[in-house]
Amino acid sequence: MNDDLVRYDNIIEKTKEYVKSRQSGEASGHDWWHTVRVYNTAMTIAEKENADTKIVALAALLHDIADYKFYDGDETIGPKTAREWLFKNGADENIINEITDIIANMSFKGAHVDSSLKTLEGKIVQDADRLDAIGAVGIARTFAYGGKKGRAIYNPDIPPANFTTFEEYKINNSSTINHFYEKLLLLKDLMNTQTARDIAEERHKFMENFLDRFLKEWDGNI
Ligand code: NI
Repeated sequence: MNDDLVRYDNIIEKTKEYVKSRQSGEASGHDWWHTVRVYNTAMTIAEKENADTKIVALAALLHDIADYKFYDGDETIGPKTAREWLFKNGADENIINEITDIIANMSFKGAHVDSSLKTLEGKIVQDADRLDAIGAVGIARTFAYGGKKGRAIYNPDIPPANFTTFEEYKINNSSTINHFYEKLLLLKDLMNTQTARDIAEERHKFMENFLDRFLKEWDGNI
């Protein structure tokens, strides 16, 4: 193993401890376990797609270090926090730039707002994060987040919206069920890599079955 690999393995291990201490106990679905899943999924995809695993590992670990949703919509805090941490731990400038670029650009900003990433490593971390938003875990996280924001589980009087700007998407306060139509059911077609598309297929079907069942039970007539 060359010096560079050892150095980055050390940074990755330290980053795990740092992120764990910052995100443990978070209750809205952006907790440490979310980061662990994104990290594991991203590393699996990275192996299959022959990506640079040190960049994928660090971007996955740091991607929610300071999510804009929890800092009054400030989108610069996440990349800034990640940059300071990586700099302090001796990562190279070009690597830091690549990682902070991924973190700054990867989040979903509404159905018709472009959030595409330039590098394979970025596309992989974005896929892994999106995979954790769908399927059984995705459903659980969506209701946890909706509860934290004080959203109704469902309100049949409010139809799902179709956001064309990130501003509209951020201030959206419709029901959690609407969130499936506004975001979660769209994610399968937004996956960047074939590996992620394959994983998304089954998770998508699971959500469709869940919604079907939910809407049948909603009226209490089942
Ligand atoms: Ni995330």
